[in-house]
Amino acid sequence: RRHLLEAADLDRADATLVLDTAAQIDQALAGREVKKLPTLRGRTVVNLFYEDSTRTRISFELAAKRLSADVINFSAKGSSVSKGESLKDTALTLEAMGADAVVVRHWASGAPHRLAHWVRGSVVNAGDGTHEHPTQALLDAYTIRQRLGRLDGVRVTIVGDVLHSRVARSNVGLLHTLGAEVTLVAPPTLLPVGVGSWPAEVGYDLDAVLPKSDVVMMLRVQAERMNASFFPSAREYSRRYGLDARRMAVLPDDAIVMHPGPMNRGMEIAAEVADSVRSTIVEQVANGVSIRMAVLYLLLGGSPA
Ligand code: CP
Repeated sequence: RRHLLEAADLDRADATLVLDTAAQIDQALAGREVKKLPTLRGRTVVNLFYEDSTRTRISFELAAKRLSADVINFSAKGSSVSKGESLKDTALTLEAMGADAVVVRHWASGAPHRLAHWVRGSVVNAGDGTHEHPTQALLDAYTIRQRLGRLDGVRVTIVGDVLHSRVARSNVGLLHTLGAEVTLVAPPTLLPVGVGSWPAEVGYDLDAVLPKSDVVMMLRVQAERMNASFFPSAREYSRRYGLDARRMAVLPDDAIVMHPGPMNRGMEIAAEVADSVRSTIVEQVANGVSIRMAVLYLLLGGSPA
């Protein structure tokens, strides 16, 4: 396989291989002072970001550096994109400089798929519009498996702004592939048309679903992708769909709380929940580096760790 564009690119064996490779990398680096492997020495990874990012951009950079690749960080802001240069010409320019892999985040759904037709190297989708964010789903699956010991039969409830969430789309697909049972809980206005064909249950009553959830994944309300008439009042939204301490108390004993970040503390998730022992939010960030190392390693065919 040359690219990772969406969760559907991975069957169960592929996805499990990524998770197992991340676990092997974690094991190989555990206790080491210098967290570096020589596997991608001489290869070049370009991070091509047309949209803001903290976690994904930094963790891809760290992942490539820990594999000893050369890394170029390209941000559309401050580049010749502001002079009108197209995605295709930008990509061909980067390829001419020897990019073996292009990690792309773009505001347009489908941009990584277009890119994959134009470049010879591997393309990794780091989030495209409201479409997909496959490495987020992989790091979420890795975190669930690490905390709960399995994915098969795990009941995952994904809550909130599903309509605008590439994280939800990728997670529904990947978690289903890996045998988890996914339920979406959202206001009807924040569910996409066609959600009935997704491999997930749909519910509207968070309080009814929480006692039957092993994992609760809260989604950020993406105000920047909504027009004002769509945007729910923060107070009403958090009353019906926010996860606070009272709601967290009805979860089964071992249940975990996830959030891909960035969070709207006090809206979809209360600060005391985000900072609680059930929360895996910081682990998700750390696991993001291991998963992205595994993805780059598998796509670029490094020598064994
Ligand atoms: N979860 C996630 O994609 O975060 P960033 O937007 O900060 O990369």
